[in-house]
Amino acid sequence: MQVSLQNINQSYGGQRLFNDLNLEIPSGKFFSLLGPSGCGKTTILRMLAGFIRPDSGKVLFGTRDMTHVPVHKRNIGIVFQDYALFPDRSVLDNVCYGLLARGVSKSEARKNSLAMLEQVGLGEFAFRMPSQLSGGQKQRVAMARALVIGPELLLLDEPLSALDVKLRLELRLLIRRLQIKSGITTLFVTHDQSEALAMSDGIAVLERGRVLQLGSPKEIYEKPSCLFVSEFFGCNRFDIVEDCGACDNQRRLKLRGGSVLTDDSKEFAPGMKLSVRPTDIDVQARQSGANNRIPGVVNQVEYRGATVEYIIETEEGKFHAEVPSDRPIFILGDSVDMVLPANGRLVGVEP
Ligand SMILES: Nc1ncnc2c1ncn2[C@@H]1O[C@H](COP(=O)(O)OP(=O)(O)O)[C@@H](O)[C@H]1O
Ligand SMILES: [Mg+2]
Repeated sequence: MQVSLQNINQSYGGQRLFNDLNLEIPSGKFFSLLGPSGCGKTTILRMLAGFIRPDSGKVLFGTRDMTHVPVHKRNIGIVFQDYALFPDRSVLDNVCYGLLARGVSKSEARKNSLAMLEQVGLGEFAFRMPSQLSGGQKQRVAMARALVIGPELLLLDEPLSALDVKLRLELRLLIRRLQIKSGITTLFVTHDQSEALAMSDGIAVLERGRVLQLGSPKEIYEKPSCLFVSEFFGCNRFDIVEDCGACDNQRRLKLRGGSVLTDDSKEFAPGMKLSVRPTDIDVQARQSGANNRIPGVVNQVEYRGATVEYIIETEEGKFHAEVPSDRPIFILGDSVDMVLPANGRLVGVEP
């Protein structure tokens, strides 16, 4: 079932959060809302759930207008960051709850709930109380509770944010697997880029109530539509002082700290920024005057195993570089060059 928000307007205390927002979540897909805290992710999710009505605009499930349909009449599964389990009910009773409320018989509800608990790996925990579970297990119960009713739409609001790294990785695989298996249209809200990239069919990047970019993880990662999106994904920003034009299939761009040659196919309009990923910058011993090299000093260095992460300080500020660790590793204070790629991996973005 496709879910749409159409021409949504919403204000709080005179402050406009959404100004004619339009968004479509494709049927059966895992779709993420990605953006910094306060950009409106939870508000969108709560609108789809029916906890809030927009000031104006429509919420559609397929072709059905749901704008004024109350929460309990929307067939939705929701998982929150803080689990929101009933503390005084067993794991099984937590999962049964939605089925019983929908008039399913007690024996049927228990049977389906136990099967669902098996699917989230908690078959043996059915008779525990929530207080006897770890955070990861609680979130598995919350997933089981959301899915057991066979919802038309699954809403996940930062469900992994309270968990430690290992559990987060484990649970995101489980969530994705369950979603693919059930084929339920899913909206996942997160401020974590790597989570959104790893899990989603489609991503909408939000800033202050506006969709800045919509696309597949690969599209958004490789072709950020603007500076905000590129920086949100950790790219470095260089100011283009001058586009010196093309020569021999190469285009020369003057940056503040040096100049780069890049392939001629791309236009870099004046005022655009050059966005470069940390993994596309090499760090090499200082040489003078060559193309695509910007001199700097190692300001921070972290060995990460397969890679070394540097912060290089230049006259223009600090830049991140992530370099394979199978080459000489520089130390704090070393004079180095950042080497920018000459191929098409440089992306021009509007400020
Ligand atoms: N009930 C409310 N009353 C006043 N302001 C609100 C309310 N709900 C949300 N907001 C404001 O709307 C903005 C978006 O909030 P929210 O959707 O929770 O963001 P996110 O989930 O992306 O962090 C915030 O600036 C928040 O303060
Ligand atoms: Mg939120």
